[in-house]
Amino acid sequence: MSPRWLRGIFALLLVAALAPVHAADDAALVAKGEYLARIGDCVSCHTARGGEPFAGGRGIPTPFGTVYAPNITPDRTHGIGAWSADDFWRALHEGVAPGGVLLYPAFPYTSYTYVTREDADAIYAYLRTVQPASHKNRENDLRFPYSVRALLLGWQGLYFKPATFAPDPRRSPAWNRGAYLVQGLGHCAACHSPRNAMGATDAENRYAGGLIPEQDWYAPSLNSAEAGLGTWSEDEIAALLKTGRSARGATFGPMSEVVFHSLQYLTDADAHAIATYLKSLPQQPEPRSARDVYVSRSLAARLTTRGAEIYRKECAGCHGDRGEGVAGIYPPLANNQAVTARVPANPIRIVMQGGFQVATAANPRPYSMPSFADRMSDDDVAAVVTYIRASWGNKGRAVLPDEIKLYRSGE
Ligand code: HEC
Ligand code: HEC
Ligand code: HEC
Repeated sequence: MSPRWLRGIFALLLVAALAPVHAADDAALVAKGEYLARIGDCVSCHTARGGEPFAGGRGIPTPFGTVYAPNITPDRTHGIGAWSADDFWRALHEGVAPGGVLLYPAFPYTSYTYVTREDADAIYAYLRTVQPASHKNRENDLRFPYSVRALLLGWQGLYFKPATFAPDPRRSPAWNRGAYLVQGLGHCAACHSPRNAMGATDAENRYAGGLIPEQDWYAPSLNSAEAGLGTWSEDEIAALLKTGRSARGATFGPMSEVVFHSLQYLTDADAHAIATYLKSLPQQPEPRSARDVYVSRSLAARLTTRGAEIYRKECAGCHGDRGEGVAGIYPPLANNQAVTARVPANPIRIVMQGGFQVATAANPRPYSMPSFADRMSDDDVAAVVTYIRASWGNKGRAVLPDEIKLYRSGE
């Protein structure tokens, strides 16, 4: 037997012995990537209604026009099948696609920049395993000059710097994990921060609450002394994130979508890590804004009296005579920040549009709330919303009939 031949056999045996280990490693990497992609909620923007997962085509409305999320399946022509792991990393970390193409921040890379290289590689590995789709990308529909991609150079120069998550060694591992997920993949700031006129989230007032552009839903402050999460327990926060409901209220609108596509998949440990971090945010006084309105006492009193009648007739059957709700079925309206938020967009819109709780593994048969837009005048909606904002210990300001008009036009 020649030693060369022996070496050959040996090498073959070695490959055979190692191969299953590699396969198991790959499977673990892909599974990790799938979990992380869920926390990043990639699927919800990158999938058109009724379209193939990750094949793109969903329009993201912005004040500057619509940006269409592209195909990120491994299709080589229309997706990102020809991208290397480095290309993918640069997109997430720097907001730049191959060829130096600058990306619009409707893709929340201002948050994803905090994702580690290791986690980005896992997401890349996962995305290479999804079904390739030959769905062609749709041109963005942006007004001039925003349609000129090269101008993003200026935008990025002003509002974006690639960043790395820096763990705080004085804090617990759970806190650091929560901070990493909230700042990075969870991109909570994309909705929960105010934006400036150029669409950039305001770094000074991160998590101070923001009206979501073009959607008129208000993502409330996560750190305000008056209406943040300071009085919530960690369990209540974790329950809201994973199931869309808690003893303090239920999610609705865009937050329900986030729970449905993304947060319901959080492990218990990660849900609690996020809660730990959110509860530790320094409590800020609520910023004053031009949206604060002055309502005279007499008008507030008239609205409240009328609102009480409407409430008894239309709402108490589900939410209870004293706004106490029914545990696990109808959210309470008493002591519920979604009701009393400084910007009253959400209670107004939910009364007009109604809503469904999210179906999650933990809550497979959700209850719904009827829509009242067709049955109630602006006066009536203002009255009942004013009433629930000011009853049972709630202390939200009155809502004017004129404010209802704003939301009616956007139905
Ligand atoms: C809020 C919506 C939104 C979410 C969430 C989102 N994306 Fe995107 N993404 C976009 C939009 C919009 C673009 C296109 C930007 C442009 O045209 O410049 C984009 C672009 C990209 C690109 C560049 C593709 C190309 O062909 O240039 C990649 C890669 C990408 N996203 C990956 C991801 C991954 C991975 C996640 C989850 C971790 C994710 N996206 C989550 C909206 C989103
Ligand atoms: C048939 C039962 C039902 C009736 C009647 C009803 N609601 Fe609701 N309400 C619900 C359910 C279920 C939800 C949770 C919806 C969701 O999560 O999208 C909800 C949610 C809400 C919320 C958001 C609170 C939160 O934490 O999710 C407000 C505010 C609200 N209702 C006010 C009202 C008012 C005011 C009326 C009367 C005009 C009313 N509801 C009538 C069932 C009802
Ligand atoms: C697509 C926009 C969007 C994203 C992304 C988002 N949220 Fe929200 N969130 C909202 C809106 C809108 C509301 C108000 C409706 C409601 O209460 O369900 C909300 C409500 C909440 C509430 C309830 C607050 C209260 O005072 O009642 C919590 C807690 C919360 N979000 C946490 C998070 C966390 C943590 C993340 C990131 C992992 C996140 N959100 C990402 C839009 C968003």
